[in-house]
Amino acid sequence: MLSREQQGLNWLLQWFDPRGRSIGGLAFILNRITALGLVLYLYLHLYYLRQLTMGPQVWNAFIDSAENSPWIGIGELFVIAGGLIHGLNGLRIALNSFNIAVPYQKQLFYGLFTLALIGIAFFAVHMFGA
Ligand code: HEM
Repeated sequence: MLSREQQGLNWLLQWFDPRGRSIGGLAFILNRITALGLVLYLYLHLYYLRQLTMGPQVWNAFIDSAENSPWIGIGELFVIAGGLIHGLNGLRIALNSFNIAVPYQKQLFYGLFTLALIGIAFFAVHMFGA
């Protein structure tokens, strides 16, 4: 017999379990993961922006350290990836919610996901390319 906590954890993990899912289910997982990532970014963004209230020296020191850190660039690319994947997939969901292109929702997902990958590659090349 599982404890309530273990049952809760299993229930939560099922949201993200890709096994046995159709492409629509995978799209849902992707949408949820990117949504949570964007919410996390929003809070991080506000947390670091608070340094604006601490004066120009604090802010300039933060900008200098951010510009010299490769992790910030990688994080920015993740935000771009999350925004593109979530936003484009969100457009598909919104269209389908208005009963538009419902029979083509899989093709729409593949097309928009490909578009997102092209966009991510474009930004990656511009941010990290020689
Ligand atoms: C182009 C911009 C965006 C579009 C078109 C969009 C669209 C959508 C749609 C249609 C859903 C509902 C998905 C469903 O019913 O299965 C959704 C869910 C959600 N979105 Fe967005 N979204 C956008 C940007 C954002 C941003 C910037 C954030 C966070 C800061 C965000 C956070 C969320 C969250 C937390 C959910 C709930 C996810 C879930 O319950 O699995 N979205 N979005």
